[in-house]
Amino acid sequence: MLLAFTEQGSGPVVVLLHGFPLSRVMWAEQLKTLSESYRVIAPDLRGHGESPAPDAAYTMDLMADDVVELLDGLGVSEPVVVGGLSMGGYVALAMALKHPGRVRALMLIDTKAAADSPEAAQTREETAQAVLKAGNSGAVVAAMIPKLFGKSTRELHPDRIEPLKADMEKTSASGVAGALRGMAIRPDRREQLAEIAVPTLVIVGEDDVIAPPAEARAMAEALPNGRLEVVPDAGHLAPYENPNAVDQAILGFLQGLN
Ligand code: MLT
Repeated sequence: MLLAFTEQGSGPVVVLLHGFPLSRVMWAEQLKTLSESYRVIAPDLRGHGESPAPDAAYTMDLMADDVVELLDGLGVSEPVVVGGLSMGGYVALAMALKHPGRVRALMLIDTKAAADSPEAAQTREETAQAVLKAGNSGAVVAAMIPKLFGKSTRELHPDRIEPLKADMEKTSASGVAGALRGMAIRPDRREQLAEIAVPTLVIVGEDDVIAPPAEARAMAEALPNGRLEVVPDAGHLAPYENPNAVDQAILGFLQGLN
């Protein structure tokens, strides 16, 4: 699968994987800041942004394979830093476990290692069917918007919500359904965290209600080389809601890598 992507800067490679049902648009601030010292590659995962949206369940392994294929196509064979937000974090974990030789360090942002409960998986399937029937992502966007942003974004920067809402609305019904079905069958990775030896920065917005700080803390503690950063004034979209704090945390982490 040929993914659409943005590439900016030069130096060690940092790959950024967006959340559901977003696109690489959410990384605009990180692309600007990190590309001063790094080669930042931000793809649109399958079904999202400008990438193709086949009718299928997009498993996390499949999406990780897509990212490896993109790196191969760009001639990047050395291990890279992979960061992912929420669904992007599920893909980053899949990549670290399936393609360990390609990952030099991980950044798990507003994400979790646990699988869906049977009820959550069932709700995803019902939502996938509703979205396919409607032919657009409206139902998912309406359900997610109240949960995505933290209190300070909602109260102090409500103007920042609309651009991402518009981005989510562009995601096709088949893309939304494919991602929902893939996330519903993703494995529980909690036991496998112990196998991930690479340095890992776990970042979470203090007001994240989708992947809450308690889950981030548990993940950081289960990782042999994990470190936790809780970001103030942010919900589930910490890199977008509080880019300065997230960029500082990321730069500190990247500079500490050998
Ligand atoms: C995301 O932000 O990627 C989603 O909230 C992930 C999910 O639905 O599990």
